[in-house]
Amino acid sequence: MYETTTQENLPIGIFDSGVGGLTVLHALKNLLPAENLLYLGDTARLPYGTKSHDSVTRYALQAADYLVQRGIKLLVVACNTASALALESLREHLAPLPVIGVVEPGAIAAVECSKSQHLLVLATEATTSQLAYTRAILRLNPDAVIEEMPCSLFVALAEEGWHQGPVADVVAEQYLGLIRERSADLRPDTAILGCTHFPLLQGPIAQALGPDIKIVDSATTTAQAVQEELVRLSLLTDADGGGDLQLIATDGPERFARVGSAFLGEKFAAEDIKLIDIHPTDLAVSG
Ligand code: DGL
Repeated sequence: MYETTTQENLPIGIFDSGVGGLTVLHALKNLLPAENLLYLGDTARLPYGTKSHDSVTRYALQAADYLVQRGIKLLVVACNTASALALESLREHLAPLPVIGVVEPGAIAAVECSKSQHLLVLATEATTSQLAYTRAILRLNPDAVIEEMPCSLFVALAEEGWHQGPVADVVAEQYLGLIRERSADLRPDTAILGCTHFPLLQGPIAQALGPDIKIVDSATTTAQAVQEELVRLSLLTDADGGGDLQLIATDGPERFARVGSAFLGEKFAAEDIKLIDIHPTDLAVSG
């Protein structure tokens, strides 16, 4: 598919537990339109957000190995859960291949946006259990106040296509209504959507949080981090046309196309998706 084999013209590999990482892919396509992109959604094993540290790390290493075997110049871990739990293992395992996660760019976006530096992180249970966002934010501003809140049901709502409407409103209100009702001095001023699926529920989330809390996500800042890394390593493609996009899933191409089109912001069909089986390799998982 990719006719030239020079390193800078290899695709960027993007990996997520499913369709959610297409929000990051969308940002990459906008910022780096000439780059070839190879996206793998591990739909057979979604969700990662309720799984153990060992399982998520093992799945992430296997998915990354598949992309590396296909030939990529940089890996984007578009899944917040995999970024929170497995980024260090991935970097160690894949070195010297550059690996970019979404947590650090999300933390940067939030710190830049917040006036009070009182921040709220909305993510899956696995991500919040690691406090990865808290650690990333504190590295940027040791005085920041951070609250992390697991909102796992938002993933199911986005997967179901219920991004708006009464069910999404009730769930958002249940998770977030009490934060809106706090007095202004106890309320965070910025919420980070620390999960690939949450940007789709931005409407109900914004309504439940109220007008005083701004919302940021990591898609745009992740794309910027990828661009900076490619520039730093002199790995930007020298092609000047539009890059190729290849979509790969481990299960359910019909569902992937139906749900994924909303995440990518453009329509694609089941026939556009290559279905693969990830064969477990013999990988040691630590932690
Ligand atoms: N991709 C996951 C994340 O960003 C959400 C879906 C899942 O739980 O696998 O945390």
